[in-house]
Amino acid sequence: MVKGGKPLCGEVTVSGAKNAAVAIIPAAILVDGVCTIENVPNIKDVQVIVEILRYMGAEITYLDNYTLQIDSRNIRRDTEPHELMRKMRASYYLIGALLGRFCKANVTMPGGCDFGTRPIDQHIKGFEALGAVVRQDSGIIIAEAEKLVGTNIYLDTVSVGATINVILAATMAEGTTTIENVAKEPHIVDLANFLNAMGAKIKGAGTDVIRITGTKNLKGGTYSIIPDQIEAGTFMVAAAATGGNVLVKNIIPKHMESVSAKLIEVGAKVTEYDDSIRVEGTKPVRGVKIKTLPYPGFPTDMQPQIVALLSVAEGSSIVTEGVWDSRFQYVGELVRMGANIHVEGKTAFITGVEHLEGAPVRATDLRGGAGVIIAGLMAEGVTEITDLKHVDRGYEKIEEKFKALGADICRVSE
Ligand code: EPZ
Repeated sequence: MVKGGKPLCGEVTVSGAKNAAVAIIPAAILVDGVCTIENVPNIKDVQVIVEILRYMGAEITYLDNYTLQIDSRNIRRDTEPHELMRKMRASYYLIGALLGRFCKANVTMPGGCDFGTRPIDQHIKGFEALGAVVRQDSGIIIAEAEKLVGTNIYLDTVSVGATINVILAATMAEGTTTIENVAKEPHIVDLANFLNAMGAKIKGAGTDVIRITGTKNLKGGTYSIIPDQIEAGTFMVAAAATGGNVLVKNIIPKHMESVSAKLIEVGAKVTEYDDSIRVEGTKPVRGVKIKTLPYPGFPTDMQPQIVALLSVAEGSSIVTEGVWDSRFQYVGELVRMGANIHVEGKTAFITGVEHLEGAPVRATDLRGGAGVIIAGLMAEGVTEITDLKHVDRGYEKIEEKFKALGADICRVSE
């Protein structure tokens, strides 16, 4: 429940990156030793992937709330818990990791947010190029190889998931793998840095071409996950949206460039420091045009939050979704709160209104949920948000962090 109208003020510390954690934890399957992973966010998706690995025989200990120790040496390939796998998108990283370690994987088709069709043809193309035979049987993907051999792979679509999955499978393949037209998101660089810290030989992560020289011996070690770029962006937008003044701490400002640039364009003041950014909002904000793109473009995972902000901008805005077929499910919830937004295909046309009004709304998906929370923080009156389970998959204690910034927000029930 959110009572809107209060400018957010103060400091907030960003957690470790969800989308890095859900790749790095299964990557530990490749490691013949103990991995200590720091700055792990305390979120539902991490709990699920930890549960999956434990079920399969990994020994996982929480050294503290944010530090995981993973020993996957005794993991068994034939015990995949399909019900758990269905709960999260990133369970498909188990295909790359298990294929890399055992040359065999048996994984349920992934769940996750509903953005229309979410094909994994590019993941499969990569596995097949490395020598695997991949088939689907009753919603389960079975990938098998006698051995994996390095090769050249060109991805037809820039895909975060396919880039990560092919890296996982190729890390221990024989010879060298070159992957072209890869995604460049910070969490891809983070995964490569983690694997390299364990002894892998991966070059070029963060550019369009990644080269992997296969190695059989990954040893344990300690690694710290990067800060969550999308959580940081969510607080930055919320600060601007409420006309507040917030220092967002524990971040890598370089990762935030596209979000910072848009916030400056709407009229907010953004000041960068070494590992934090201050956002000072002015009201009203100005309408802008945005197209979401793969990194370093404006992130699709920030689209609902910025649309919530633009719903009260002066003038009109046009937001085009450049990554997913369908990512405007949450717009109906904003319209219930008085927003004037019209969606045609992959574009939202927004005519700014003077204010939003509190209403009962739903978190339709993870980032859509963050968008309606921001709308609630701006609105007059009380907004009641249901289906928070989507939000809890990717944000750690979101209501507590907003409350500490002065928001009138509380969780009524689990
Ligand atoms: C990752 O999803 C993120 N999830 C998503 O974040 C994010 O929206 C997305 O990347 C884009 O940045 C995780 O990291 C767990 P893609 P992913 O493969 O890897 C098409 C969040 O809110 N495609 O980069 O599944 C696909 O349909 C979540 O934290 C193919 O055509 O996304 C889409 O249009 C939601 N064939 C585009 O590529 C394929 O084989 C990008 O998808 C794979 C993808």
